[in-house]
Amino acid sequence: MSYNLVFYGNETLKGIAEPVENIDGSVAAIIDEMYEIMYRERGIGLAAPQIDLGRRIIVVDTQDGNGNKIALINPVIKEFSDRTNPFEEGCLSVPGINADVIRPSEILISGFDRNGKELEIEARGLLARVFQHEVDHLDGFLFIDRIDNYIREEFRSELKKIKKMNR
Ligand code: CO
Repeated sequence: MSYNLVFYGNETLKGIAEPVENIDGSVAAIIDEMYEIMYRERGIGLAAPQIDLGRRIIVVDTQDGNGNKIALINPVIKEFSDRTNPFEEGCLSVPGINADVIRPSEILISGFDRNGKELEIEARGLLARVFQHEVDHLDGFLFIDRIDNYIREEFRSELKKIKKMNR
C-alpha cells in the first residue's frame, strides 16, 4: 500500500482519529511507512491523519542525538506543566509556514508501542513540543489553529495555495 501526505484543508486532518483496536502487523506496517515518509520529507514528527489515515498513531524522531525515536499508538497526554514556552513550529501538512506556538514545556504522555507494550514518557524540550503537535493532529488541530487570528490572517493566501496541493 502506498500513502501520500495530505495538506491543510483535507477532511481527515480536520477529524478526530479513531483509536487503534488491535496492535498487529498492519499497524507496524503503517508505522514503518510513516517513518519512511517523515524522513523523506525531513520532518521530526508525523501523525497518521497526515497520510489520510484517521487512526491514533504518531511517530517522532527529534534527531537531537538523544535517541528520541518513538512511535506511539493511542497516545494520551496525562499531565501538562503549568510552565509554558513559545517555540517556532512548522508542519509537513502546512508546508512553508512557520509560527510561534505557546505550549506547556513538559508533559507526561502514555501510549502503546508497536508490540502493544504500554509506555509512559516524561518529555520536555523539543520532544514535549513534537508530541503535543502530533497528538493535536489526532484531534483535528493544526498548529495554525493555535496561533492568534491576526497572525493566521497573514498566511491566508499561502494557506489557499496549500489547500490546492491536496490531490
Ligand atoms: Co504537523
